[in-house]
Amino acid sequence: EDLVPIPQPPVHWFTRNMPEIEPAFPARSNWRLAAMYGDIVKLDLVKETVVIVSSHELANEVYDETRFEKHVAGGLKVLRDVLGAGLFTAYPGEHSWETAHRILMPAFGPIAIKKMFPQMQDIISQLVLRWDRLGTDNEIHRLAFDTIALCGFSYRFNSFYRDNTHPFAQQMAETLIEAGKRANRTAIENSMRIFSAEETKKNVQAMWKLCDELVADRRRNPKPEVNDILNAMLNREDPETGEKMSDESIRFNMLTFLIAGHETTSGALSFLFYNFLRNPKTFQKAQEEVDRVVGDNILDARHIPQLKYVEVCIRETLRVLGPITQNQVHAKEDTIVGGKYKVTKDMTIRVNLRGIHHDARVWGPDAEEFRPERMLEGGFEKAPRNAWKPFGNGERACIGRSLAEQEMVMTTTMILQRFQVHMVDPSYDLHLKSTLTVKPADFKIKVSRRPNKD
Ligand code: HEM
Repeated sequence: EDLVPIPQPPVHWFTRNMPEIEPAFPARSNWRLAAMYGDIVKLDLVKETVVIVSSHELANEVYDETRFEKHVAGGLKVLRDVLGAGLFTAYPGEHSWETAHRILMPAFGPIAIKKMFPQMQDIISQLVLRWDRLGTDNEIHRLAFDTIALCGFSYRFNSFYRDNTHPFAQQMAETLIEAGKRANRTAIENSMRIFSAEETKKNVQAMWKLCDELVADRRRNPKPEVNDILNAMLNREDPETGEKMSDESIRFNMLTFLIAGHETTSGALSFLFYNFLRNPKTFQKAQEEVDRVVGDNILDARHIPQLKYVEVCIRETLRVLGPITQNQVHAKEDTIVGGKYKVTKDMTIRVNLRGIHHDARVWGPDAEEFRPERMLEGGFEKAPRNAWKPFGNGERACIGRSLAEQEMVMTTTMILQRFQVHMVDPSYDLHLKSTLTVKPADFKIKVSRRPNKD
């Protein structure tokens, strides 16, 4: 077969294709390049060659785990200073990943997560109570943070009882901002940032210390009756090798869950409420479902499978634009994609999630629109393989998916049950901010108690 060169923007003699990337918002570069050059684009970024794929067909090919595997570089590699070989930042085949993966998969499975219903309800009730008094939001990230800490380690940050941010949350936010900056600087620039490197070190050490203290405390005072992730990490053995997780691996994964679990879930909920308020009919329909299924009762685990419309609103939100906008793989061996493009194993392949999720060949001509009904009309179960990928791919897909989905359905339901929701600024135009994840910037909602709901 004839090979065809991958489309590439003009190459500058010195900066190559570097100017094509917007360092503060890498996803936006993917979107712009896909619009200009199509389903596949190549960039020479001096340190690496990046291939961006933006169609379902090509993504489907590079998600084949026999030929491609997760690529840990750039921002992910920088995060290894903080998260080490934790699940999210582990290299493919890294031994501690395999142990942790096998030990933790059941602990994050749907059955285990269902048992966390009371802990989730506890935290969401705190949010509802606070909104009832104050009438405003800005607390979604506190919700996600407190939930993962309580479900994961039976630890209470009590964010809703503080006016300022919890020091741990502050340390984490500063670390992530710095990691994002480091990922976009050269090695020489980074070596000159001695002050911020020192600050980061202090922050990271403080976070590790809290994790280590929680572990030591649990070892001193075992709580065999609690169903949390920490117990699984301390007590379970790898079913294949009989090994336990090392103390270091436990610490790295505790931090991983706190980081991976809170920005993503809170960002997804912000996008959901943005979509609801821009499409009031969907909001109304979801609220009618909540009234029909739950009414004035206290939300119960049995209600969850009946909240179908709420669920598809969340799925559709993650399709239109979710908190994770790309994932990276590389070929295990030099290969050909799309039947005609040569890809070598040293290239970074970046899957542009918006490209798959807005592919009109899969989702139809209204792919850009928020229309949850498409997910009911068989659009979800019948969608082709690898057409909906907000939680990533294969064995490196999101381990927290069930946790996040249950938390999002419960939160949405408990908010809709009690409140009418409004935008603080009805003329708000969606603009985005990009840190480790993407989320709406400056998007504010306010709530008022629905009549007869107390
Ligand atoms: C991995 C998305 C919530 C923990 C991933 C990946 C995606 C993702 C796309 C794959 C990353 C890659 O390929 O490099 C999301 C979304 C969430 C969410 C959209 C919420 C709406 C959570 C939660 C946790 C979590 C609540 C909590 C524990 C992880 C971990 C990994 C991961 C540990 C790495 C898994 C591995 O490679 O073994 N997530 N996530 N995520 N996520 Fe999530």
